[in-house]
Amino acid sequence: MRFLNKRALVTGGASGIGRAVVERFIAEGAAVAIADLEGEAARTFTDALRARGARVVAVVGDVSRIEDAERMVAEAVAFLGGLDILINNAGIETVGSVTTARDDEWERQIAVNLHGVYRMSRFAIPELIRAGGGAIVNVASIGGLVAVREFSAYGASKAAVIQLTRSMAADYAEYGIRVNCVCPGPVDTPLLERACRRVCGERSPHEVRQMYADLTLLKRIAQPEEIARCIAFLASDEASYVTGAVLVADGGFTAQ
Ligand SMILES: NC(=O)c1ccc[n+]([C@@H]2O[C@H](COP(=O)([O-])OP(=O)(O)OC[C@H]3O[C@@H](n4cnc5c(N)ncnc54)[C@H](O)[C@@H]3O)[C@@H](O)[C@H]2O)c1
Repeated sequence: MRFLNKRALVTGGASGIGRAVVERFIAEGAAVAIADLEGEAARTFTDALRARGARVVAVVGDVSRIEDAERMVAEAVAFLGGLDILINNAGIETVGSVTTARDDEWERQIAVNLHGVYRMSRFAIPELIRAGGGAIVNVASIGGLVAVREFSAYGASKAAVIQLTRSMAADYAEYGIRVNCVCPGPVDTPLLERACRRVCGERSPHEVRQMYADLTLLKRIAQPEEIARCIAFLASDEASYVTGAVLVADGGFTAQ
Protein backbone atom coordinates (compact mmCIF):
# COMPACT_ATOMS: atom_id res chain seq x y z
CA MET A 1 0.00 0.00 0.00
CA ARG A 2 2.56 2.60 -1.17
CA PHE A 3 -0.09 5.32 -1.55
CA LEU A 4 -2.11 4.92 1.64
CA ASN A 5 -3.59 8.34 2.57
CA LYS A 6 -1.97 9.93 -0.52
CA ARG A 7 -4.03 12.29 -2.67
CA ALA A 8 -3.36 12.17 -6.40
CA LEU A 9 -4.54 14.11 -9.44
CA VAL A 10 -4.20 12.23 -12.74
CA THR A 11 -4.80 14.12 -15.99
CA GLY A 12 -6.13 12.09 -18.91
CA GLY A 13 -7.19 9.52 -16.33
CA ALA A 14 -10.25 8.31 -18.23
CA SER A 15 -8.38 6.31 -20.89
CA GLY A 16 -5.24 4.36 -21.70
CA ILE A 17 -2.15 4.93 -19.56
CA GLY A 18 -3.90 7.42 -17.24
CA ARG A 19 -6.68 4.96 -16.55
CA ALA A 20 -4.13 2.29 -15.62
CA VAL A 21 -2.40 4.78 -13.30
CA VAL A 22 -5.70 5.55 -11.58
CA GLU A 23 -6.33 1.80 -11.10
CA ARG A 24 -2.85 1.29 -9.64
CA PHE A 25 -3.07 4.27 -7.27
CA ILE A 26 -6.45 3.14 -5.98
CA ALA A 27 -5.26 -0.47 -5.56
CA GLU A 28 -2.42 0.92 -3.43
CA GLY A 29 -4.58 3.06 -1.17
CA ALA A 30 -4.67 6.53 -2.78
CA ALA A 31 -7.64 8.85 -3.17
CA VAL A 32 -7.70 10.09 -6.76
CA ALA A 33 -9.07 12.95 -8.87
CA ILE A 34 -9.41 12.12 -12.57
CA ALA A 35 -9.00 15.23 -14.73
CA ASP A 36 -10.19 14.65 -18.26
CA LEU A 37 -11.77 16.42 -21.21
CA GLU A 38 -14.14 13.50 -21.80
CA GLY A 39 -16.64 14.06 -19.02
CA GLU A 40 -18.81 11.06 -19.73
CA ALA A 41 -15.90 8.61 -19.85
CA ALA A 42 -14.41 10.10 -16.67
CA ARG A 43 -17.72 9.92 -14.79
CA THR A 44 -18.51 6.36 -15.94
CA PHE A 45 -15.05 5.22 -14.81
CA THR A 46 -15.43 7.11 -11.51
CA ASP A 47 -18.83 5.49 -10.84
CA ALA A 48 -17.37 2.01 -11.44
CA LEU A 49 -14.45 2.72 -9.08
CA ARG A 50 -16.75 4.12 -6.38
CA ALA A 51 -18.87 0.98 -6.58
CA ARG A 52 -15.68 -0.87 -5.57
CA GLY A 53 -15.22 1.45 -2.57
CA ALA A 54 -12.63 3.84 -4.05
CA ARG A 55 -12.36 7.50 -3.03
CA VAL A 56 -12.35 9.12 -6.45
CA VAL A 57 -13.79 12.14 -8.25
CA ALA A 58 -13.99 13.28 -11.87
CA VAL A 59 -12.98 16.87 -12.64
CA VAL A 60 -13.81 17.74 -16.21
CA GLY A 61 -12.00 20.23 -18.41
CA ASP A 62 -9.20 21.00 -20.84
CA VAL A 63 -5.67 21.00 -19.33
CA SER A 64 -4.52 23.50 -21.96
CA ARG A 65 -7.01 26.19 -20.83
CA ILE A 66 -5.77 28.18 -17.86
CA GLU A 67 -9.22 28.70 -16.33
CA ASP A 68 -10.02 24.97 -16.66
CA ALA A 69 -6.67 24.01 -15.11
CA GLU A 70 -7.25 26.31 -12.14
CA ARG A 71 -10.80 25.03 -11.62
CA MET A 72 -9.86 21.34 -11.98
CA VAL A 73 -7.07 21.64 -9.40
CA ALA A 74 -9.43 23.53 -7.05
CA GLU A 75 -12.16 20.88 -7.46
CA ALA A 76 -9.66 18.09 -6.89
CA VAL A 77 -8.29 19.75 -3.73
CA ALA A 78 -11.83 20.42 -2.42
CA PHE A 79 -12.67 16.71 -2.78
CA LEU A 80 -9.34 15.25 -1.66
CA GLY A 81 -8.60 17.76 1.12
CA GLY A 82 -5.18 18.57 -0.39
CA LEU A 83 -2.76 17.17 -2.94
CA ASP A 84 0.40 15.06 -2.73
CA ILE A 85 0.86 13.77 -6.30
CA LEU A 86 0.27 15.20 -9.78
CA ILE A 87 0.49 13.00 -12.87
CA ASN A 88 0.58 15.11 -16.04
CA ASN A 89 -0.49 12.41 -18.48
CA ALA A 90 -3.16 13.98 -20.75
CA GLY A 91 -1.93 14.16 -24.31
CA ILE A 92 -2.92 14.01 -27.95
CA GLU A 93 -1.16 12.97 -31.12
CA THR A 94 -0.82 15.08 -34.24
CA VAL A 95 0.45 13.50 -37.39
CA GLY A 96 2.55 15.20 -40.05
CA SER A 97 5.89 16.71 -40.94
CA VAL A 98 6.55 20.44 -40.70
CA THR A 99 5.23 20.86 -44.26
CA THR A 100 2.24 18.50 -44.04
CA ALA A 101 0.90 19.07 -40.50
CA ARG A 102 -2.07 21.40 -40.30
CA ASP A 103 -1.28 24.69 -38.58
CA ASP A 104 -4.22 24.47 -36.16
CA GLU A 105 -3.25 20.90 -35.24
CA TRP A 106 0.34 22.00 -34.59
CA GLU A 107 -0.93 24.72 -32.22
CA ARG A 108 -3.29 22.31 -30.47
CA GLN A 109 -0.51 19.72 -30.08
CA ILE A 110 1.75 22.16 -28.26
CA ALA A 111 -1.18 23.60 -26.26
CA VAL A 112 -2.29 20.25 -24.83
CA ASN A 113 0.99 18.35 -24.48
CA LEU A 114 3.20 21.20 -23.29
CA HIS A 115 1.05 24.07 -22.01
CA GLY A 116 -1.22 21.53 -20.30
CA VAL A 117 1.71 20.29 -18.20
CA TYR A 118 2.73 23.85 -17.35
CA ARG A 119 -0.82 25.02 -16.50
CA MET A 120 -1.80 22.05 -14.33
CA SER A 121 1.55 22.23 -12.52
CA ARG A 122 1.21 25.97 -11.99
CA PHE A 123 -1.94 25.46 -9.89
CA ALA A 124 -1.02 22.11 -8.34
CA ILE A 125 2.46 23.04 -7.05
CA PRO A 126 1.23 25.51 -4.39
CA GLU A 127 -0.98 22.67 -3.09
CA LEU A 128 1.97 20.25 -2.98
CA ILE A 129 3.97 22.90 -1.09
CA ARG A 130 1.06 23.32 1.36
CA ALA A 131 1.12 19.53 1.86
CA GLY A 132 4.81 19.71 2.81
CA GLY A 133 6.13 18.29 -0.48
CA GLY A 134 5.11 15.72 -3.03
CA ALA A 135 5.79 14.21 -6.43
CA ILE A 136 5.02 15.12 -10.03
CA VAL A 137 5.37 12.69 -12.92
CA ASN A 138 5.10 14.01 -16.47
CA VAL A 139 4.31 11.57 -19.26
CA ALA A 140 6.56 12.42 -22.21
CA SER A 141 7.45 9.93 -24.97
CA ILE A 142 10.37 8.42 -26.84
CA GLY A 143 9.11 10.81 -29.53
CA GLY A 144 10.81 13.49 -27.42
CA LEU A 145 14.14 11.62 -27.51
CA VAL A 146 14.44 10.34 -31.07
CA ALA A 147 12.83 11.27 -34.38
CA VAL A 148 9.74 9.27 -35.27
CA ARG A 149 8.64 10.03 -38.82
CA GLU A 150 5.35 11.93 -39.21
CA PHE A 151 5.32 13.08 -35.56
CA SER A 152 7.14 16.43 -35.74
CA ALA A 153 4.82 18.49 -33.50
CA TYR A 154 4.31 15.58 -31.12
CA GLY A 155 8.07 15.07 -30.81
CA ALA A 156 8.69 18.79 -30.26
CA SER A 157 6.03 18.90 -27.52
CA LYS A 158 7.46 15.86 -25.75
CA ALA A 159 11.09 17.06 -25.95
CA ALA A 160 9.89 20.26 -24.31
CA VAL A 161 8.14 18.26 -21.56
CA ILE A 162 11.40 16.41 -20.84
CA GLN A 163 13.26 19.70 -20.40
CA LEU A 164 10.40 21.27 -18.42
CA THR A 165 10.62 18.27 -16.08
CA ARG A 166 14.25 19.11 -15.31
CA SER A 167 13.47 22.81 -14.82
CA MET A 168 10.62 22.02 -12.44
CA ALA A 169 12.83 19.55 -10.54
CA ALA A 170 15.40 22.34 -10.06
CA ASP A 171 12.84 24.97 -9.07
CA TYR A 172 10.91 22.96 -6.47
CA ALA A 173 13.46 20.61 -4.88
CA GLU A 174 13.76 22.99 -1.94
CA TYR A 175 10.04 22.48 -1.25
CA GLY A 176 10.40 18.70 -1.10
CA ILE A 177 8.82 18.21 -4.53
CA ARG A 178 10.37 15.63 -6.85
CA VAL A 179 9.63 15.98 -10.57
CA ASN A 180 10.36 13.18 -13.03
CA CYS A 181 9.16 12.02 -16.40
CA VAL A 182 8.46 8.74 -18.13
CA CYS A 183 9.11 8.22 -21.84
CA PRO A 184 6.99 5.31 -23.05
CA GLY A 185 7.49 3.57 -26.37
CA PRO A 186 4.41 2.29 -28.20
CA VAL A 187 1.58 1.44 -25.77
CA ASP A 188 -1.68 -0.37 -26.48
CA THR A 189 -4.15 2.54 -26.06
CA PRO A 190 -6.72 4.39 -28.18
CA LEU A 191 -4.02 7.01 -28.94
CA LEU A 192 -1.79 4.39 -30.59
CA GLU A 193 -4.74 3.00 -32.56
CA ARG A 194 -5.58 6.49 -33.87
CA ALA A 195 -1.92 7.16 -34.72
CA CYS A 196 -1.62 3.88 -36.66
CA ARG A 197 -4.76 4.66 -38.66
CA ARG A 198 -3.52 8.16 -39.47
CA VAL A 199 -0.01 7.27 -40.68
CA CYS A 200 -0.78 3.97 -42.44
CA GLY A 201 -1.25 5.28 -46.01
CA GLU A 202 -1.10 2.21 -48.28
CA ARG A 203 -0.49 -0.16 -45.36
CA SER A 204 -3.09 -1.43 -42.90
CA PRO A 205 -3.13 0.07 -39.37
CA HIS A 206 -2.26 -3.44 -38.15
CA GLU A 207 0.92 -3.44 -40.27
CA VAL A 208 1.97 -0.08 -38.81
CA ARG A 209 1.32 -1.36 -35.31
CA GLN A 210 3.47 -4.43 -36.08
CA MET A 211 6.19 -2.16 -37.45
CA TYR A 212 6.31 -0.26 -34.14
CA ALA A 213 6.42 -3.55 -32.23
CA ASP A 214 9.30 -4.76 -34.44
CA LEU A 215 11.25 -1.56 -33.72
CA THR A 216 11.50 -2.57 -30.05
CA LEU A 217 13.98 -5.12 -28.72
CA LEU A 218 11.14 -6.96 -26.97
CA LYS A 219 9.17 -7.13 -30.26
CA ARG A 220 5.88 -6.08 -28.74
CA ILE A 221 3.69 -3.13 -27.83
CA ALA A 222 3.49 -2.32 -24.08
CA GLN A 223 0.34 -2.74 -22.02
CA PRO A 224 -0.77 0.46 -20.20
CA GLU A 225 -0.26 -1.26 -16.82
CA GLU A 226 3.47 -1.66 -17.58
CA ILE A 227 3.82 2.12 -17.95
CA ALA A 228 1.57 2.75 -14.95
CA ARG A 229 3.98 0.72 -12.79
CA CYS A 230 6.89 2.99 -13.84
CA ILE A 231 4.83 6.11 -13.11
CA ALA A 232 3.77 4.72 -9.72
CA PHE A 233 7.40 4.00 -8.84
CA LEU A 234 8.46 7.59 -9.56
CA ALA A 235 5.44 8.95 -7.66
CA SER A 236 6.16 6.76 -4.61
CA ASP A 237 8.60 7.13 -1.72
CA GLU A 238 10.58 4.24 -3.24
CA ALA A 239 11.94 6.88 -5.62
CA SER A 240 12.83 9.26 -2.77
CA TYR A 241 16.28 10.09 -4.24
CA VAL A 242 15.06 10.40 -7.84
CA THR A 243 14.31 13.83 -9.29
CA GLY A 244 14.79 15.42 -12.70
CA ALA A 245 15.06 11.92 -14.15
CA VAL A 246 13.85 10.50 -17.45
CA LEU A 247 12.68 6.91 -17.17
CA VAL A 248 12.55 5.33 -20.62
CA ALA A 249 10.04 2.46 -20.80
CA ASP A 250 10.16 1.52 -24.46
CA GLY A 251 10.97 -2.18 -24.75
CA GLY A 252 14.40 -1.17 -26.02
CA PHE A 253 13.16 1.00 -28.93
CA THR A 254 15.81 3.69 -28.31
CA ALA A 255 18.58 1.30 -27.16
CA GLN A 256 19.57 0.39 -30.73
N1 LIG B 1 0.01 5.18 -26.41
C1 LIG B 1 1.29 5.37 -26.74
O1 LIG B 1 1.84 4.64 -27.58
C2 LIG B 1 2.10 6.45 -26.06
C3 LIG B 1 3.49 6.45 -26.24
C4 LIG B 1 4.26 7.43 -25.63
C5 LIG B 1 3.65 8.40 -24.86
N2 LIG B 1 2.30 8.41 -24.71
C6 LIG B 1 1.70 9.49 -23.91
O2 LIG B 1 0.94 8.93 -22.86
C7 LIG B 1 -0.08 9.86 -22.50
C8 LIG B 1 -1.41 9.12 -22.43
O3 LIG B 1 -1.71 8.63 -23.73
P1 LIG B 1 -2.65 7.38 -24.02
O4 LIG B 1 -1.96 6.58 -25.03
O5 LIG B 1 -3.10 6.77 -22.76
O6 LIG B 1 -3.85 8.16 -24.76
P2 LIG B 1 -5.44 8.02 -24.69
O7 LIG B 1 -5.94 8.77 -25.87
O8 LIG B 1 -5.85 6.61 -24.48
O9 LIG B 1 -5.79 8.84 -23.34
C9 LIG B 1 -5.55 10.19 -23.23
C10 LIG B 1 -6.56 10.80 -22.28
O10 LIG B 1 -6.27 12.19 -22.18
C11 LIG B 1 -7.47 12.93 -22.30
N3 LIG B 1 -7.18 14.24 -22.85
C12 LIG B 1 -6.76 14.54 -24.11
N4 LIG B 1 -6.64 15.85 -24.25
C13 LIG B 1 -7.00 16.41 -23.07
C14 LIG B 1 -7.09 17.75 -22.62
N5 LIG B 1 -6.81 18.78 -23.42
N6 LIG B 1 -7.50 17.97 -21.35
C15 LIG B 1 -7.81 16.94 -20.52
N7 LIG B 1 -7.76 15.65 -20.91
C16 LIG B 1 -7.36 15.39 -22.17
C17 LIG B 1 -8.33 12.09 -23.24
O11 LIG B 1 -9.72 12.43 -23.12
C18 LIG B 1 -8.00 10.68 -22.78
O12 LIG B 1 -8.86 10.27 -21.73
C19 LIG B 1 -0.04 10.98 -23.52
O13 LIG B 1 0.65 12.08 -23.00
C20 LIG B 1 0.73 10.36 -24.67
O14 LIG B 1 1.37 11.32 -25.47
C21 LIG B 1 1.50 7.45 -25.29
